[in-house]
Amino acid sequence: MRIVMTGSGYVGLVSGACLADFGHDVICVDKDASKIAVLHDGGVPIYEPGLADLIARNVKGGRLTFTTDLAASVAQADVVFIAVGTPARRGDGHADLSYVYDAAQEIASALTGFTVVVTKSTVPVGTGDEVDRIIRETNPAAQFAVASNPEFLREGAAIQDFKRPDRIVIGIEDDRARPVMEEVYRPLYLNQAPIQFTGRRTSELIKYAANAFLAMKITYINEIAELCEHVGADVQQVARGIGLDNRIGSKFLHAGPGYGGSCFPKDTLALVKTAEDAGAPIRLIETTVAINESRKRAMARKVVAVCNGSVRGKNIAVLGLTFKPNTDDMRDAPSLSIIQALQDSGAQVRAYDPEGMDAARAMLRDVDFCASPYEAAQGAAAVVIVTEWDALRALDLPRLRSVMSGEGLVDLRNIYRPEDAEAAGFAYVSVGRGA
Ligand code: UGA
Repeated sequence: MRIVMTGSGYVGLVSGACLADFGHDVICVDKDASKIAVLHDGGVPIYEPGLADLIARNVKGGRLTFTTDLAASVAQADVVFIAVGTPARRGDGHADLSYVYDAAQEIASALTGFTVVVTKSTVPVGTGDEVDRIIRETNPAAQFAVASNPEFLREGAAIQDFKRPDRIVIGIEDDRARPVMEEVYRPLYLNQAPIQFTGRRTSELIKYAANAFLAMKITYINEIAELCEHVGADVQQVARGIGLDNRIGSKFLHAGPGYGGSCFPKDTLALVKTAEDAGAPIRLIETTVAINESRKRAMARKVVAVCNGSVRGKNIAVLGLTFKPNTDDMRDAPSLSIIQALQDSGAQVRAYDPEGMDAARAMLRDVDFCASPYEAAQGAAAVVIVTEWDALRALDLPRLRSVMSGEGLVDLRNIYRPEDAEAAGFAYVSVGRGA
């Protein structure tokens, strides 16, 4: 199969490289010439474990190429994926679909022969209809079908998630697309990953409904964590106790500082807007969004409390800045809200992250970026762990304590045992461990 991937961001690049690894001929396209230049030079513009090797192997095998020329690539293709960004539109929270529609228009003029155009970007219900209309209007002679194929991969585990998905969802309105999409995913199909063919609008909604459910599940355990702190219970035990019930499931029950990232915050908001517009508001998700927003900033209060009620004029070390480990992605990271709240309270923030500091530098002001956790802790009244990087799980606690001026350790991911932290001389605060 000849496949074009329009957009070489996280989803496009990982999907393109994995599809090439299945044996397809894949061209990854991006408008950003500097990104394509990096890829041509053998580099990878994002940090994702295993991706550099996967790309190198498939480039060497002649199955994966990169270009800025969408039209020339589309002319040869059997399948054209659209995997461009759909950021939240400023002001109203709706997904900004201008990149998707621009891509559709450009693809339309270049189509030759029967081609399946597939939206892989997370797009609101009805976007496939609009893409269909744009292509039909731009190029009335085109032979094509528009399918929806949402992607469920997680950053940091992207390759594994793509190659061993729980399911593949494909929304079609034209039966000619079905055998083509079956061929695209044949290697996974053979591995028994369930493929769910459904209508295009249903497929688009499945993606939002899944992300919103997961965001709600995290928010639920965060609320329970709050309660645990007030009534002397342990949220980790509660999560285990409820998670062993198969109907609930044990995943996505880690209490923390609130969810972040490029997907949950924007997708929950977009679903709320879609539901509002459709006259069927989803109050559960409206509430989820509100709770998560206030939670992120509220985490700073734990730091203030451990610093005897004030952080004014004090150094606070923040360890782990990215929205989760194994990524350099800072989008909607809880650390951003927490740092802002600490600065608003008069603290001087010193920060360390294994991969996210370049991105963080561009987003944060008046923060001292440090080369190690111990350097960040130098002279700090408290250390706050915001992201559970492996590199932060085995800190030398007595050493950390010895370079600080105060004794606060605020562990927002519960990666330390209270007794170990206390033995090292810390006043230790974690999440939902009131017992
Ligand atoms: C999420 C979904 O998990 C993917 O299935 C989906 O494809 C993706 O969004 C997307 O729409 O593209 P991702 O944002 O990469 O993936 O990361 P997650 O691992 O889901 O984590 C999201 C946030 O939730 C992080 O801030 C993480 O720290 C937080 N989280 C996650 C918790 O606080 N507790 C948990 O138990 C799990």
